[in-house]
Amino acid sequence: MPSKTIYPVTTPASRALPQVEFTGKCDRYVLRNGVEVPCLGFGTYMIPNDEEGAAAVRTALDLGFRHIDGAANYNNEDMVGRVLAESGIPRNEVFITSKLKNTEQGYEKTLAAFDRTLSDLGTDYLDLYLIHWPKVAGTEDRWEEIIAETWRAFEELYEAGRVRAIGVSNFLVHHLETLERHARIMPMVDQIELNPTYQQRETVAWCEERGIQLEAWAPLGRGRLMRDEHVIALAERLGKDAGQVCVRWALQKGFITMPKSTKPARIKSNSEVFDFELSAEDMALLDSYDTDDNYTFHPDRLAEWAERVAAAHRESGV
Ligand SMILES: NC(=O)c1ccc[n+]([C@@H]2O[C@H](COP(=O)([O-])OP(=O)(O)OC[C@H]3O[C@@H](n4cnc5c(N)ncnc54)[C@H](OP(=O)(O)O)[C@@H]3O)[C@@H](O)[C@H]2O)c1
Repeated sequence: MPSKTIYPVTTPASRALPQVEFTGKCDRYVLRNGVEVPCLGFGTYMIPNDEEGAAAVRTALDLGFRHIDGAANYNNEDMVGRVLAESGIPRNEVFITSKLKNTEQGYEKTLAAFDRTLSDLGTDYLDLYLIHWPKVAGTEDRWEEIIAETWRAFEELYEAGRVRAIGVSNFLVHHLETLERHARIMPMVDQIELNPTYQQRETVAWCEERGIQLEAWAPLGRGRLMRDEHVIALAERLGKDAGQVCVRWALQKGFITMPKSTKPARIKSNSEVFDFELSAEDMALLDSYDTDDNYTFHPDRLAEWAERVAAAHRESGV
């Protein structure tokens, strides 16, 4: 039996937070396998697959973003690939993440889905590939078997050098512990919903103890925190806006993050977070807004999904 290589290389004490000085969006976190990731990505969920979406991606690249957070499920990877090609930016200067679509879990399907994503993006490798969700509606009773097969394909893609780092998304502690029973290589990243009102502390602690880098999706609470009176009050006191406070909070927690906007002014302001620092007191204040259940989609509550997806689409107008 092959020996397991779980959590190699670093100890928690050497993980990203102290290594990043946060002087700009391309400051890098270092994953457990040495791969460097720009601390601020551009989120592409609900970036439309049309000229407006292309303009948003172009704006992000023009502003200096060199990290694109995508997914097959966002149905816009071909547009992202086209904008990247047109930009003329060398491939190795942009960190590209994609995620496996839920319906494509399983060994063979994962390999085929990976090839499709590469083709859509017009690239021959990914920087980071994530399993998008641990469970797929309708197959919950077999999820451990399916996730083990899916991860076997991820390990092969990684060992073949077709992706520089592999990870998961929306995995809570019990999902990670299940994966651990089957993995030869543990994930280098877990991308979960993280913002001041939903901090998932148990999963964060579990990952941090094992050198699994956290990425914060919905750093702005999907726009909700831009209207939060507490966050706005703090932002006004600091002479910043609510988006900047939330993005800065995520970075100071040691999370990679990727705010999304289609609007050039917001894409710009959300990235202007390197000329101020949240004090320990202000971090503690934001930490105090945590709740246990302020999630968008909970990975174990699949039945709620359809309604929440519909509500999110209604709210954003997409
Ligand atoms: N792994 C996963 O399962 C998962 C799930 C969700 C998201 N993600 C990733 O994380 C990224 C970010 O998450 P998200 O897009 O869900 O939410 P988010 O970044 O927290 O918020 C995006 C929403 O906030 C609005 N917004 C952005 N900047 C603003 C500002 N300065 N002032 C007011 N409103 C602002 C946007 O509207 P406009 O576009 O109109 O500005 C959009 O409705 C995604 O794009 C995706 O890459 C991953």
